[in-house]
Amino acid sequence: MSRRPTQPHGVCLRAVLVLAAVVIVGGCAFDGPMSTLVARSDLNHSILGVYKIILWATSIIGVLVFAILAVVLLRYRERPGAALPRQIHGHTTMEISWTIAPALILLIIAIPTIQVIFKTQSAAAPKNALEVTVRGWQWWWEFRYPSLDVVTANEVHLPVGRPVVFSLEGPDVIHSLWIPQLGGKRDVVPGRVNRITLTPEAPGEYWGQCAEFCGTSHANMMLRVIVQEPAAFDAWVATQKAPAPEPAGDAVAGKEVFARSACVGCHTIRGVSAGVLGPDLTHFASRALFGAGLWPTTVENVAAWVKDPPRLKPGSKMPNLHLSDADSTAVAAYLMGLK
Ligand code: CUA
Repeated sequence: MSRRPTQPHGVCLRAVLVLAAVVIVGGCAFDGPMSTLVARSDLNHSILGVYKIILWATSIIGVLVFAILAVVLLRYRERPGAALPRQIHGHTTMEISWTIAPALILLIIAIPTIQVIFKTQSAAAPKNALEVTVRGWQWWWEFRYPSLDVVTANEVHLPVGRPVVFSLEGPDVIHSLWIPQLGGKRDVVPGRVNRITLTPEAPGEYWGQCAEFCGTSHANMMLRVIVQEPAAFDAWVATQKAPAPEPAGDAVAGKEVFARSACVGCHTIRGVSAGVLGPDLTHFASRALFGAGLWPTTVENVAAWVKDPPRLKPGSKMPNLHLSDADSTAVAAYLMGLK
């Protein structure tokens, strides 16, 4: 009886490995929005400096270890008739060296690391620093500018070239502020205030993400930092300080629905409501995205959101208020007018 030739398993395995490599490498980008390798602040240059020290140290160690391994494998491999190599039990010089060498390497890594942490965590802010209080909520970010009397959510504007001190407060659970090209990760811990001091170096939009698991929608807790020329920043501050625009058309009914619903218990719209558990909505539509970076701020998206928040964002603290389609659309029209 003859055997039928079968497909060797090796081919299938190789195909899977190639496919996996393509998928994994396809996710790599040197300069993607979440790349820490592109530094756009003094803090990130410092972090990259530490990163390079660690990269070089570990690369040299890796090359040395593999070189020694190769020599040992070739030189002492089993050969027919070869005698057992000389056996060593205890070698004081070697044991002292491999204790001291790693300790030195750790010291070389620790000194610049601790310097950067102290420099950027210090309570003494630079004189002209802009202060921003960051509060990490399940699952969105609140930004308060105490000196400007401005409050916003999920999108924080900063002037280029001016130091900023983020004071991190955790009203509920532990989060972590991370804007890969500007700085972080630093934990947002209930009961204490952590700080990040940095100076953004180039105008642009920088993506951030909560970097500490904080519950169901941890992955849906994004933020954007918009770094602007000082004049553009001042213009933004002026629009944020202005009173909420009065609604017109469909939005008039939306304001009424908002004012008589549970919305007012959690949200602030200056002149209408004063809730503090959800994002300040006074200038909601000035933000390009909502839901902590999840969706573009359009009337359709906002209407779908207010209709049933937990369906769109798992674990959302904003409950389904069972608004009718007409009321949801009216509320969305009202919010879209809050530029
Ligand atoms: Cu907030 Cu994870």
